[in-house]
Order: sequence, then C-alpha cells, then structure tokens
Amino acid sequence: MTSRRTFITMATAGLGGAVLPGNSGWARGFQEGGELPAVVSTWNFGMAANEAAWKILGSGGYALDGVEAGARIPEDDPAVISVGYGGLPDDRGKVTLDACIMDEKGNAGAVACLEEIRHAVSVARMVMEKTPHVMLTGRGARDFALSRGFKRENLLTPAAKAAWKRWKKAGAHFKPVINIENEILQNHDTIGILALDRQGRLCGATTTSGMAFKMHGRVGDSPIAGAGLFVDGRIGGAVATGSGELVMKTLGSFLVVELMHKGLSPEEACREAVMRIVSTNPGYRDHQIGYLALKNNGLYGAYSLQPGFDYAVRTPSYNRLLTARSLLG
Ligand code: GLY
Repeated sequence: MTSRRTFITMATAGLGGAVLPGNSGWARGFQEGGELPAVVSTWNFGMAANEAAWKILGSGGYALDGVEAGARIPEDDPAVISVGYGGLPDDRGKVTLDACIMDEKGNAGAVACLEEIRHAVSVARMVMEKTPHVMLTGRGARDFALSRGFKRENLLTPAAKAAWKRWKKAGAHFKPVINIENEILQNHDTIGILALDRQGRLCGATTTSGMAFKMHGRVGDSPIAGAGLFVDGRIGGAVATGSGELVMKTLGSFLVVELMHKGLSPEEACREAVMRIVSTNPGYRDHQIGYLALKNNGLYGAYSLQPGFDYAVRTPSYNRLLTARSLLG
C-alpha cells in the first residue's frame, strides 16, 4: 500500500501518473490523474475490481460495462465480508444487498434489501435498462431478478453465519459506530467504483451487504442515487463508504459532484462533504465516512473522516492502492 506521504512525493516527482499543470497540492486540494481511461474504486478489494474493469476499459470498452464487471468481483468473493456472497447478515441472519448503478447520461438503477441473488449490481443495471423505474426493493427486486434469469442461492457462508452466531451469543448489541472498520477489524465496507472510458463516458456503481447485523429491512446509502453514488457525466461522479445513515442525510455523493461543478477539486469536494457531516453530527467521531470522486477529465481525489480509507486507482500509467487524507488522525 502506498502511504499518503509516499503518494504525494511520487506525484510531485511526476511518477504518480499525469499531474495536470496548475495543480498545486493541498492549497487547491490535491488533484491527481487526468488520463483516459481511468477507474477508481474504494478499499483494498478495489484493486481486483479495477483489474476486471480495466480488461474492458483498456480495450476501448464502455465504462458502464467496466463498473459492472469490477463490482461483480467482490460480490463473488466470500472473503469480502461486506459485499455480496459472504457478506455479513442482518440481525435475523439474512444477507440483504444494496446496489446502484448510473451511466453517463444520468440514468440510474438500484436494488435495496435484495436477498438470495449474488450480483446485486447486475440486477440494478437491469432495473435501469429494462424497467421504467429506478429502484426495486426486497421481494420485488428478487422476483424481478429471477424473472430475468438470475440464480437464487444462499449467500450466507458458514463463516458469516458463525460471526452472526457469535454476535448473538455476545448479546446482539448493534453499534453503528465505525461499523465494519472497527467492530469487525476488517478495513473495508461498500465497494464504490467510478470509470471513465476512452470516449469520455463516466459511469459508476456501488454494491454492499450494508452494516453488519443491521435491523432487518434497513437500507443504507449505497442504493440511493445522490447518497452512496452520483454521476453527472458532464461534471463527474462520486461514491461514498462508511456510515450510510450520515451520508443519506446529506446526500453526500450529490454534494461532492455539485461542489466539483462549482470548481472544487475532487479532494476538496470530498473534504467539504465530510465537513458537512461533521458540522451537523456531534457524534461524528464514532463514525467513518469516505468519499471518492472522479471528474470527467480524469482527475480524481478522496477524503475520509477517520484515517485508513484506501482506494484503488488504475489509469494507463498508474495502478496503485492509495490512502485518502483524513480529518481525524
Ligand atoms: N455505506 C454502507 C452502508 O451504510 O450500508
């Protein structure tokens, strides 16, 4: 993993990809990138997701296909306990999935509280492309997926079931505080992925099993366009990770994109969206929030509340895991 210090040094030395002229570091918010195609995604599993997306983007493919292919990687991986198959369940022991996808034209599709279908991101895409709606939830989402040929399966792995049983035995106390990062000692959460293809089309996706041991029926920020994900192909895109309730109440990803529209760099915009949460939530120190943004010119940036928010970047000259600057720590 590249530390932030290393990253800044590399970028200053011109080794960290194409730094656009006029980017003067933190004074204007750190900016990096500027190459097409580009793909950025949250957490360390973003490296494998970017790799899958790159197979499409690197050969001239569509950004929407890229973000879907990328998001499907952690959905398939039982070792990733916050996404798809192997995700930790809710308080009833059910794995319920949230996902969203947006294209460069502002079209959106989403599923919330989806059970027994592994690739929530692909169902979200089908909602976008094959229905007049934006979001399907619960049983309706599952019925729709089954009608479109998705396979019904048990997503609760033995390891996730054992973790749920341990949680029940320990008293079943739900703490949304820095949920996955601190409670479960795994440094990841939602995957959010943004891609810009050779033709300049910017698309994004999110997919997650949400907060571990959440109340049955709880939906987080990830499937909500404007909260966990927002793309305006004329400006840029943003994704969020961390405590979804706080992101939802500030429409964080929409805010990041709007702030970029007003001229803030991706990192400045992400920082401002974190500050919006801080200014309205006295208990903010107990949460993690991370934003990651990509402009339609290829510049990207991220910022988090707590330290330790990693994100993966892939461009023609760059393939690294970076750590976002953070407010605390
Ligand atoms: N950010 C994921 C969730 O709160 O469900």
